[in-house]
Amino acid sequence: MSKRPLNVGLVGGGKGAFIVQPHQKAIFFDGTRRVTAAALFPEPKVALEEAANWPYPLKGYGSYDDMIAANASLPEEQKLDYVVIVTPNHVHYDPAMKALKAGIAVFCEKPLCMNLKEATDLVKAVRKYEVPFGVAHTYLGHWTTRFSRYIVQAGLLGEVRWVDSCYLQGWLATKLEATGQMQAAWRTDPKLAGGSGCGGDIGTHALMQLRYVTGLEVVELSGHLEAFVEGRPLDDHFTTYCKLSNGGKALVRASQICIGRKNDLELNVAGTKGSLRWRQEEPESITIHLANQPDRVYWRGAVAAGDGFLPKEVPAALLAEPTIPAGHPEGFHDAYARLHRCFEADVRKWEAGEPFKCDGAKYANVEDGWTGIAFIETALRSTKSKGAWKPMPKPI
Ligand SMILES: NC(=O)c1ccc[n+]([C@@H]2O[C@H](COP(=O)([O-])OP(=O)(O)OC[C@H]3O[C@@H](n4cnc5c(N)ncnc54)[C@H](O)[C@@H]3O)[C@@H](O)[C@H]2O)c1
Repeated sequence: MSKRPLNVGLVGGGKGAFIVQPHQKAIFFDGTRRVTAAALFPEPKVALEEAANWPYPLKGYGSYDDMIAANASLPEEQKLDYVVIVTPNHVHYDPAMKALKAGIAVFCEKPLCMNLKEATDLVKAVRKYEVPFGVAHTYLGHWTTRFSRYIVQAGLLGEVRWVDSCYLQGWLATKLEATGQMQAAWRTDPKLAGGSGCGGDIGTHALMQLRYVTGLEVVELSGHLEAFVEGRPLDDHFTTYCKLSNGGKALVRASQICIGRKNDLELNVAGTKGSLRWRQEEPESITIHLANQPDRVYWRGAVAAGDGFLPKEVPAALLAEPTIPAGHPEGFHDAYARLHRCFEADVRKWEAGEPFKCDGAKYANVEDGWTGIAFIETALRSTKSKGAWKPMPKPI
């Protein structure tokens, strides 16, 4: 197994881009991964200029086609171990597919791509080429999300009856895109964002949080995609009422017109024995509510097995997942780092010819990405039929 840090190539990230910043911090976080190459901008000249002026040395390419093509002839020390795709949604499929075909592992931003046809092609390609593929559903990387998953799936709350997974933002409450603001401009353009604005952007996070923590699937939904800001062609307010695979119900919803709300992703799970509450803006703890008992607040790193609610056999691997001691707060960057750390483990196994599992237990995989797109398309279909119940497509 190679002992050198893994080499990572960026697709996108130049000229004031947003999500490349947390990614590159997370890549360097452990000293076992580093960014070595990048195709930072759609125009080759600008891409090369941006790379030359990047805060640390990296090999700049004029395009991701050039970066992927060059990889085969690089010496082993310089070869890319994976690429991170941080471009707007319409530039996910093409670089992902080209990297897979070239035998390079892919960590791709969400939503996976623009439509279900692209998503299906990507699932098939990942299975055909047997290359590690992750989708950057950031909030799975919080330790408290892992812990919530354990609590719910160990049955400590009983049978899940009801889930409310809700992501509220306020930054698109006015027509920000009319000012040319880069992140707003592409997110409100169907040709660049896909069939849903708010739903694709943050509704997919709300869905993923529900699925990862509960292990349940949405089987049918009534969708209501709305645009409150006049003249906006995509939804800025996204509501789905869902039937779950165990017979329970859920609201999966998101909004970008809630003035003052920042990144208010909240998951509430109500079971037959108790309820759980998790908020991404306070990701260091979760609250458990039990009937006729004081609420229990569990902090990351300060959990005692066998405490009257938690059984004695809380998995050691969960408790030990590398972290700093409780009370030194973790946040968004730490969550990204945990995802990259777990992805690195699979990439190293794959490169060593060992079995690797992109099984969705540590980070979202290509099938999770597919489900996100299927969810959006089902919500769109339902909205067109005035909220009629529509079944989710069968997983491939
Ligand atoms: N997981 C999360 O929490 C999270 C948060 C924000 C954004 N995202 C996702 O990340 C992606 C990027 O979002 P953002 O807000 O950073 O966007 P952004 O507009 O800030 O950055 C996009 C970058 O891609 C570059 N780009 C566009 N086309 C390119 C091409 N053909 N070749 C090379 N570079 C190209 C742009 O120049 C820019 O540098 C989106 O898919 C978004 O949904 C995820």
